[in-house]
Amino acid sequence: EKGGHEYFMLKEIDEQPTALADTLRGHFSDGRIVLDEQRLSDQDLRDVDKVFVVACGSAYHSGLVAKYAIEHWTRLPVEVELASEFRYRDPVLDRDTLVVAVSQSGETADTLEAVRHAREQKARVLAVCNTNGAQIPRESDAVLYTHAGPEIGVASTKAFLAQIAANYLVGLALAQARGTKYPDEVAREFHELAAMPEAVRQVLGTTEQVKALGRELSEAKAVLFLGRHVGYPVALEGALKLKELAYMHAEGFAAGELKHGPIALIEPGLPVVVVMPSPKGRAVLHSKLVSNISEIQARGARTIVIAEEGDETVRPFADELIEIPAVPTLLQPLVSTVPLQVLAAEIARSRGYDVDKPRNLAKSVTVE
Ligand code: BG6
Repeated sequence: EKGGHEYFMLKEIDEQPTALADTLRGHFSDGRIVLDEQRLSDQDLRDVDKVFVVACGSAYHSGLVAKYAIEHWTRLPVEVELASEFRYRDPVLDRDTLVVAVSQSGETADTLEAVRHAREQKARVLAVCNTNGAQIPRESDAVLYTHAGPEIGVASTKAFLAQIAANYLVGLALAQARGTKYPDEVAREFHELAAMPEAVRQVLGTTEQVKALGRELSEAKAVLFLGRHVGYPVALEGALKLKELAYMHAEGFAAGELKHGPIALIEPGLPVVVVMPSPKGRAVLHSKLVSNISEIQARGARTIVIAEEGDETVRPFADELIEIPAVPTLLQPLVSTVPLQVLAAEIARSRGYDVDKPRNLAKSVTVE
C-alpha cells in the first residue's frame, strides 16, 4: 500500500500533483468559481468585511500563505491565527466575519473549539477539510473539501499543498462575489492554479540533489530558514518539517527580521535555507533577499538557496542552489515547499528515524 515507497510520507510527497488536481477539479464551471457544500449565499460572501483563518501546525502555515493572496484579490483584511490562541483572546467577530477553519483531519480540538467560539459570536464559518463528514465541517456553515486522499504520515505534505489550493479557491470565490476581480481575471487565476500540478511534478523529478544534501546535513546541529512574502510561511513550514521529522532545532524567519536579531545566530558552517522569490515577479523583494544572503554568507553560513530556474543573480551567493520552475509569485509556495519536505524526510531517514511516526506526535490531536 506504500506503492513501492519505504514510507507513506514519501508516497504522499509524490502524490502531491494528484492531490492538487483533485482539489481543484469541479471548482470552475461556466466561468465561475464554485465551492462545494456552500450553505453561504453570494450575498453572504458579499457582506463579509473581515476574514480570519484559524488552524494549527501546517494547516496554520497554509493560512499564512493564503493571506497574501486573499488580501490582494479581495481587499479584505485577513488575520491568520493559531486556533489555540484565537478563542482565548476575545477576537472581534460578528455576522460579517468569515472564519475559515483549516484542518486536514477535521477533528483537531483546538480548531473545533475555535469554530464553536466563532459561531457563538455569530460569525460565518467555512471549513477547509480533507475528511468527509468530520466534526469541524459538520459544525461549520460551509465546507470546501481538499481531495488529497488519506494522509497517513503524521507530518502533513499533500494535505498542506491541497489546503493552499483550497484557501485560494475561497479567496477567488470572495473576489468574484465582491467584484474585486473581473470574471476574466478570476478565470486566469484559476487556470494558473490548475497548471500547478504539472509544476509540482517537475519539482518531484529533481529531488536527487536535495536527498544528497539531506544526507550531508544529517549531523547538523541546527538549520535556519529564511523567506519573504509568501516565502516566509514556506520557511516556517520547512522548519516545522525538520523539527517534526528529524528532531533537529530549526527556525524559520522573515528575512527582513534577520538584522533585528536572528543574524546573531549565524556562525561558520550553519546551514541556512533561503527561499528566493522570482526575479521577474517582485524585483524589490528579490534584491532584498540577495542582500540578506550575501550578509549571511559573509558571516560564514552555508547557504542553501531555493530559486527559480535561470535566476543567475543568486548563483554567486548559493553554496547549494536548488532550482524550481518559474511560476506566479503567489503560487510559488506550491513548488518551493516540496524540496523542503524532501530535505526533512531525508535528514530524518539518515538519522534512522521513522518518518511516518515521529516521536511524541499524533496525526490528529483531539485534546486541547
Ligand atoms: C498536528 C499534526 O498535530 O496537527 C500536523 O502533527 C497538523 O501535521 C496539525 O498540521 C493540524 O492538524 P489538522 O488535522 O487540523 O490539519
